[in-house]
Amino acid sequence: MKEPALPGTSLQRACRLLVAFCALHLSATLLYYLVGSSLTPPRSPEPPPRRPPPANLSLPPSRPPPSAARPRPRPVSAQPNTRPDSAPPGLCPDPSPLLVGPLRVEFSQPVNLEEVASTNPEVREGGRFAPKDCKALQKVAIIIPFRNREEHLKYWLYYMHPILQRQQLDYGVYVINQDGDEEFNRAKLLNVGFMEALKEYDYECFVFSDVDLIPMDDRNTYKCYSQPRHLSVSMDKFGFRLPYNQYFGGVSALSKEQFTKINGFPNNYWGWGGEDDDIYNRLVFKGMGISRPDAVIGKCRMIRHSRDRKNEPNPERCVSRACPVPTPCKAPLCKPGRTVNKLRAIVSSTAGGRSSPPFSCTESVVTLPVG
Ligand SMILES: *[C@@H]1O[C@H](CO)[C@@H](O)[C@H](O)[C@H]1NC(C)=O
Repeated sequence: MKEPALPGTSLQRACRLLVAFCALHLSATLLYYLVGSSLTPPRSPEPPPRRPPPANLSLPPSRPPPSAARPRPRPVSAQPNTRPDSAPPGLCPDPSPLLVGPLRVEFSQPVNLEEVASTNPEVREGGRFAPKDCKALQKVAIIIPFRNREEHLKYWLYYMHPILQRQQLDYGVYVINQDGDEEFNRAKLLNVGFMEALKEYDYECFVFSDVDLIPMDDRNTYKCYSQPRHLSVSMDKFGFRLPYNQYFGGVSALSKEQFTKINGFPNNYWGWGGEDDDIYNRLVFKGMGISRPDAVIGKCRMIRHSRDRKNEPNPERCVSRACPVPTPCKAPLCKPGRTVNKLRAIVSSTAGGRSSPPFSCTESVVTLPVG
């Protein structure tokens, strides 16, 4: 006798099929995650964060405020080291044995430039120095965008020449002064500095520093690393922490290759703000990440000042979360966004007051090419 087809048999079969399918799906998903997590390659040292820079008006603190404890000296080996340990004889040791760690930095006493010159007898004309007893690991040009900040420059020279000498760098200081009274253009001045410094010497590393920032620890070496370096990572102005993870302003270091890879800095940021975020985007766009010292070694002080005239916040800068990724530029160092023939940058290298005042800015006048 033929068994009568039970009502719901086909339903049962469908259910069984569904359960089997679900189980299969579940195990496949599980397997995917298990295998995936063990197979993902180790990320490069500091992967570029994915979030776009937050709007500046509502900056979320990126980290809890550090305790107010005095900076403890740390083993210097904690610093990233791109060189092999066994340096060939003749090269300066890395890190420099002359470093002392945390420094006291204050701006209450005025600085006398004659004194700066006499306490730094080994700094040559043009703000140049190279260690005598060993070959410096890097040739570093320090580029300072400048206008009307003589007092700040004095403090910078006073503090920085001794630090840079202890870091045993083969360095030169280039103060790039914007002539005239157009809106200030920091990034373009940095481009000028890059090109002018290379005319003078075979620099391999470029430190771009605001004139009002002084490191509080000489282990924060003003040199280049395998990734672009952000040096001013815990500024007193921001409560000794990063204002946001993508922050790349203040003091940064790029090797000649890194700078060339992003085709230099943007030329079209006039007035305060935004150009540093653009530079950050360019670096990430080219697949690079940011290297930083830790928050103790990276402490620095900013000289307090009121906002300069002709450096008002640029209303066109991108302050929303929808910052566009910059399109790669084709012209060398990027085409400027508007006519720039009025911007003349006066380039002077500075000896820390050895002969003429370092900021007399008379050595050469560069008229930037119009794009
Ligand atoms: C946001 O603020 C930082 C810190 O003051 C500044 O360096 C940056 O240029 C600002 N970005 C914009 C888009 O205004």
